[in-house]
Amino acid sequence: MRCALVSSSLDIRGYLGTEFARIADRIEIVDHRRNGSDADISLAIAWHPPADAFERYPNLKAVCSIGAGVDNIVACPSLRPDIDVVRIVDPLQAQTMSGFVIWHVISHQRRFATYLAQQRDGIWKRLPQRAAQDVPVGILGYGEIGQRVAADLAQLGFPVMVWSRTAKPTPATVRGFHGPAGLAAMLGESEVLVNLLPLTQETQGILNAELFARMRRGGYLIQVGRGEHLVDADLLAALESGRLDGAALDVFAAEPLAPAHPFWHHPKIVVTPHDACEVRVEAVATTVVATADAIQTGRRPPNAIDRQRGY
Ligand code: NAP
Ligand code: GLV
Repeated sequence: MRCALVSSSLDIRGYLGTEFARIADRIEIVDHRRNGSDADISLAIAWHPPADAFERYPNLKAVCSIGAGVDNIVACPSLRPDIDVVRIVDPLQAQTMSGFVIWHVISHQRRFATYLAQQRDGIWKRLPQRAAQDVPVGILGYGEIGQRVAADLAQLGFPVMVWSRTAKPTPATVRGFHGPAGLAAMLGESEVLVNLLPLTQETQGILNAELFARMRRGGYLIQVGRGEHLVDADLLAALESGRLDGAALDVFAAEPLAPAHPFWHHPKIVVTPHDACEVRVEAVATTVVATADAIQTGRRPPNAIDRQRGY
């Protein structure tokens, strides 16, 4: 099957490297900006596709993301509603994300920012310790990644709450909330808030002043969803007022983060360059082959999103 690579921001061929050789007997990779016929293209791999990208593929059936998130693909105006959008679901990605989130939760609990500052000034001073049991963590999003993060934090002794759109069963160690009333209830008990939502019309701008005001005073934000979830000015104001004590930010509305952005040098913000959990190229290749199989046998591809919901 011929598969087009479509991206305005990434060299997908270079990114997936030798994995393309592994699946070459099944998938013939073609570049989007080539000359030639497009009628036989039923599959594409995309990341930040240009606005008109899919106009040239009249018989396109599915587009594979190279990440868990698909927001940059579903936002593409030329993506027809009948085209399946497939995302990466990989337990190893969830495991890596969990490690990243745990790093920041424990960093907040054990006051590592203060210890780093003390070290810089040569200060030997023990700080009061807090048990994991005393640091409740709320997680926005209880999907493939949120479930793993919740389970691992609970295992470490943190009181864990999760919020989803629909009601979800949870183990005894995790308290589940859903819907707007559930969000208000969970925020009222959360000291650390982890954002693991997909970016949709409903979730855009959800990390705003109103939400921060509902959290416990002195709380901590771990933002690993998408940059557009966060209202930047509201975060700065919440840190300024002491409503929040700090934030770890991995994703930003404009990436790379602009050199002059105030987040870079803010003493209460940790910035990482959208690196919380890279997708394994093996998982992308496996997803592409499974999607090609589904197209050829007239099935819906595994891990195709609900286009109505947008995730
Ligand atoms: P997922 O399996 O699709 O789970 C999404 C969760 O969010 C579900 O629990 C869903 O609720 C909930 N949700 C969606 N819309 C909601 C709403 N309006 N109100 C309340 N809950 C809502 O997604 P995932 O694989 O866990 O990934 C989550 C996101 O993490 C991705 O979309 C991406 O943005 C981000 N991510 C970031 C990185 C990084 O490196 N920073 C890496 C990977 C992923 P239901 O269960 O009720 O459907
Ligand atoms: C990364 O941000 C992903 O969506 O996998």
